[in-house]
Amino acid sequence: MLDFVFSISPMRVLFGAGSRHRLDEELASLGARRVLLIADPAHRRLARELAGQVGTRCCGIFDGVVQHVPVEVAEAGRAKVRELQADCCVTIGGGSATGLGKAIAMEIALPLVSVPTTYAGSEMTPIWGLTEGGLKRTGRDSAVQPRVTFYDPELTVTLPPAVAGPSGMNAIAHSVEALYAENANPIMSLLAEEGVRVLAEALPRVMAAQDDIEAHGKALYGAWLAGVVLGAVGMALHHKLCHVLGGTFKTAHADTHALILPYACAYNLEAAPDAKLRLTAALGTAQVARALRELSLAVGAPATLKDLGLSTADLATAAELATQAPYYNPREVTRDGVHQLLLDAYHGVMPRA
Ligand SMILES: NC(=O)c1ccc[n+]([C@@H]2O[C@H](COP(=O)([O-])OP(=O)(O)OC[C@H]3O[C@@H](n4cnc5c(N)ncnc54)[C@H](O)[C@@H]3O)[C@@H](O)[C@H]2O)c1
Repeated sequence: MLDFVFSISPMRVLFGAGSRHRLDEELASLGARRVLLIADPAHRRLARELAGQVGTRCCGIFDGVVQHVPVEVAEAGRAKVRELQADCCVTIGGGSATGLGKAIAMEIALPLVSVPTTYAGSEMTPIWGLTEGGLKRTGRDSAVQPRVTFYDPELTVTLPPAVAGPSGMNAIAHSVEALYAENANPIMSLLAEEGVRVLAEALPRVMAAQDDIEAHGKALYGAWLAGVVLGAVGMALHHKLCHVLGGTFKTAHADTHALILPYACAYNLEAAPDAKLRLTAALGTAQVARALRELSLAVGAPATLKDLGLSTADLATAAELATQAPYYNPREVTRDGVHQLLLDAYHGVMPRA
């Protein structure tokens, strides 16, 4: 019997090739008069282009984005906002740029506008993250959720394949875990299933022809759906493991997700039959973990945890850290079970249920 709570944050999305050119009118609607543009280092030129479009509304550009938002970088961004008396921030870049905007909005009440250039999906969530002393803390706060997002596929064509593929798998991971979330609901499951289907179809096309704007649009659409479900329902073992590996062993965020996802699926799916059915429909095969492993390799993700720089001794540490505190997962999380999952990923064997 259906029994669920549905809740979704307000969001405004402008989707389409060239949609970024409507930034000024959206800023005007928000009443923003002093806008700080926050850009990752790969997007200095785009930041200057957007600054030119919004003219006197722009009060500065801050391009000191660093992955995982070190607290010093968050402080530097907040100081810039105070110095320039900015009343709005526009983030331009991947999850790292969005993350810095969120760290600012956590402490200074202002609207965020987001121009994402990867498939990470952070722009659709109220989740923030900050790194201090080597440890990453995350939390939820509706104040950090961007008010307007521009999904412009012209901005993802410059993604190097080595970033695009794993970033797309990161988005698929949000959708997969949304399907067996503790607070899953049928609306979010519809979006999650569609997100997997669209991304699995579009990512190989994006990899094959970097200038295929239609494929980029599809992949970005799938990433948007994945971001929505990430913001709306809880995650489980897969995200916990990736958080541990990234936090403790500094493995790259999207690469880690791309590598671990098939193994996390193999671990969980027999205990999550509804999720398995939806993934079977989305991927066109009941061999879900295998299909995800093949997709992950086809889009250029690292093949093994060894490639990500881990040793076999690290696996025991990771298994210990990932099982210290209890959390929801469709299947019981045991240290031995997680250790075996990590060993399989270390050797890159075909994931086994
Ligand atoms: N809070 C959330 O809801 C949430 C969700 C997903 C990810 N995140 C966080 O986001 C971060 C990872 O984000 P990410 O995977 O997007 O990586 P990223 O933002 O660090 O970008 C990865 C690299 O790609 C470059 N890049 C980005 N877009 C490009 C483009 N279009 N063309 C060329 N180069 C481009 C960047 O300059 C960077 O070097 C992590 O810190 C992760 O924890 C947060």
